[in-house]
Amino acid sequence: MTILLTDLLNDLHEDHRNMSIMLDLLDRQVEHIRDGERPDYELIHDIMRYLTTYSDAVHHPKEDVLYASMRKERPEAAKGLDQVGPEHLEIAELGETLRNDVEAVASGAPVTRERLVEDASDYIRTLRRHMAWEEDDLFRRAKELVNSEREMFVDISNFDTLDPVFGLERQHSYENLLQNIKNLSSS
Ligand SMILES: [Fe+2]
Ligand SMILES: [Fe+2]
Repeated sequence: MTILLTDLLNDLHEDHRNMSIMLDLLDRQVEHIRDGERPDYELIHDIMRYLTTYSDAVHHPKEDVLYASMRKERPEAAKGLDQVGPEHLEIAELGETLRNDVEAVASGAPVTRERLVEDASDYIRTLRRHMAWEEDDLFRRAKELVNSEREMFVDISNFDTLDPVFGLERQHSYENLLQNIKNLSSS
């Protein structure tokens, strides 16, 4: 599937808004753990399932398409783009670690609160910092490219996957997560 670069950029912005909601929900659960309360492990697991399957496997490859266009069209404005790949990798690894922690808890394995808090905090901090860099710097440069060029199309056929939580076809397995998102926006 081919789409306009400007539409891809809008989709990526939207993904960031949704990922921020996930991190806000995750943050609240980390607070519960810190306070010695029992968190909603099912919710944490759903958040991590979404972030490791949709964000890592669809959002980041779509960004790679955007950044490849920037490199090709504006090599002089491609400063820092080499750093994106290692950061995506780091985010995926930290996410996997946290997801494994939560799955270990579910299977009855001992995972300390300190470890959960530390792994979740590392993940939240790293992903927030990465998204802020993209929003404040990389996406601004992309916007300049979009505004100054003729209509540019990009091929996203390989990553044309619907968002299972915020997209048109929501997956039923995310029911609990969707309810928490609703509660968050009404609180
Ligand atoms: Fe990224
Ligand atoms: Fe991103």
